[in-house]
Amino acid sequence: MLCWVLFLDKTEPTISITVVGASGDLAKRKIFPALFVLFYEDHLPKHFTIYGYARSKLTDEELRNMISKTLTCRIDKWGNCSDKRDQFLQRCFYHSGQYNSEENFSELDIKLKEKEVGRLPNRLFFLSIPPNIFVDVVRCVSRCTSSATGWTRVIVEKPFGRDLESSREMTKSLQQYLTEGQIFRIDHYLGKELVENLSVLRFSNLVFEPLWSRTYIRNVQLIFLEDFGTEGRGGYFDSYGIIRDIMQNHLLQMLALFAMETPVSLDAEDIRNEKVKVLRSMRPLQLDDVIIGQYKGHIKGGKSYPAYTDDPTVPKDSLTATFSALALFIDNARWDGVPFLMKAGKALHTRRAEIRVQFRHVPGNLFKTNFGTDLDKATNELVIRVQPDEAIYLKINNKIPGLGMRIDRSKLNLLYATRYSNAIPDAYERLLLDAIKGEHRLFIRSDELDAAWALFTPLLKDLEEKKTVPELYPYGSRGPIGAHYLAAKHNVRWGDLSEENPEVSSYIPIHRMVE
Ligand code: NDP
Ligand code: BG6
Repeated sequence: MLCWVLFLDKTEPTISITVVGASGDLAKRKIFPALFVLFYEDHLPKHFTIYGYARSKLTDEELRNMISKTLTCRIDKWGNCSDKRDQFLQRCFYHSGQYNSEENFSELDIKLKEKEVGRLPNRLFFLSIPPNIFVDVVRCVSRCTSSATGWTRVIVEKPFGRDLESSREMTKSLQQYLTEGQIFRIDHYLGKELVENLSVLRFSNLVFEPLWSRTYIRNVQLIFLEDFGTEGRGGYFDSYGIIRDIMQNHLLQMLALFAMETPVSLDAEDIRNEKVKVLRSMRPLQLDDVIIGQYKGHIKGGKSYPAYTDDPTVPKDSLTATFSALALFIDNARWDGVPFLMKAGKALHTRRAEIRVQFRHVPGNLFKTNFGTDLDKATNELVIRVQPDEAIYLKINNKIPGLGMRIDRSKLNLLYATRYSNAIPDAYERLLLDAIKGEHRLFIRSDELDAAWALFTPLLKDLEEKKTVPELYPYGSRGPIGAHYLAAKHNVRWGDLSEENPEVSSYIPIHRMVE
């Protein structure tokens, strides 16, 4: 054994990945499966060890049994999946400990060193735990479990605070123990394929970038819909609500990437500098540019769907929003006056995340007699569908073949499933790989976080202080009607609803909606 150790190359790196909160839902559902895919696809270094850490008393074997159930191999079809799964599981271990115990983290350190012996040790910690224990864990990691000679990085999951003050406090506390370069704040939407592609779409296609401004774009819509409620997560959700859960992070990050100026380079700092500028140029949110909703119980097809407040972990009189729509404006030269509408909701009729860009109408359109009086119905619309059925499509006006001059709306459609045979990676695969490489591009910098909270905190405070009552909408519906009024106020029609049912958008004339 000793001889073997002497012959090891001490400059050859090894990585120890510790999933803190390994017994939890996120670890089982997302983190271990993502690590497995990275292993399967040879993205992990040759030498690596994975440790699960949590308070639950588990043996290595029990951890392996637990996670093997969720390593369902989206790559099953590639063959030898079960051999690879066994090899992967043999590299997974467990250590039980308290989150604030330096002694327990020192024990982990000893175990990690045993695996790392003779190699250059790098360590990655994924904090998959409730935020109130982040700082305890980071303190223990920095004092007892950080690598003496390699790098130590910590991935932190949202929520990063619940307002500007608490987020700043958390940033300050984390920075007592870690440098900003060691912190990787995850917003998993930045790891989604179509969100990553936004910059490619804009900056490598001449047909888009010149149109990307107030001159040609009428409005932009950022839409997140889920067809299930908060079942099982009501306790967490009730103290956050949809604005903090989805809009302040996932939708705002997409907006910043969409609207930023061309960065100097693709370096993380250059991209994040541009995103911060967008966030800091945003007009303060006005209460009358926001509507909130909450789902109520509903019986459909003989099946009964619960109200948000039926969840036993949610107070019966909760005013927490499970739906919101709002209008944002970026007060800079590129976007002055263009409404950016956001809509996010749970327990709706469908599941979807997308960006819709509605262009202005063609001036002096030769074909206006074909379109009737409402020229805005015939404008181009670019849709970036983040999920499901990832796609980018552009709606254009086209002549219907034949002798007459009839025009319809058709799609130039890039549907990923038909164009690309390779599977789309899960966001956590991409983000974990980037953290291993030390690439910060898809992680949130502290000043970005600060700017995002600075935008939303006054609004959230206002809503809470005024005890604004959410508009009820039935589980499985299209959400509160208030969202239409808000859009109509800014002369916008929600593109998703018009597309699902063109009749709906044409039978509610815009002037009637604002009455
Ligand atoms: P869990 O609530 O399942 O918690 C993870 C683990 O932390 C638990 O298994 C438990 O382990 C420990 N834990 C739970 N509550 C406490 C507590 N009050 N005090 C100390 N330890 C506790 O969380 P998730 O796995 O769902 O999520 C992890 C993190 O990721 C959270 O910050 C969450 O907000 C965030 N997140 C989760 C998402 C999801 O889809 N689940 C999506 C986006 C973010 P043990 O008892 O064994 O120590
Ligand atoms: C999380 C939210 O950040 O994102 C959840 O906390 C939401 O409420 C989830 O369901 C949606 O993620 P995805 O990747 O399933 O769209």
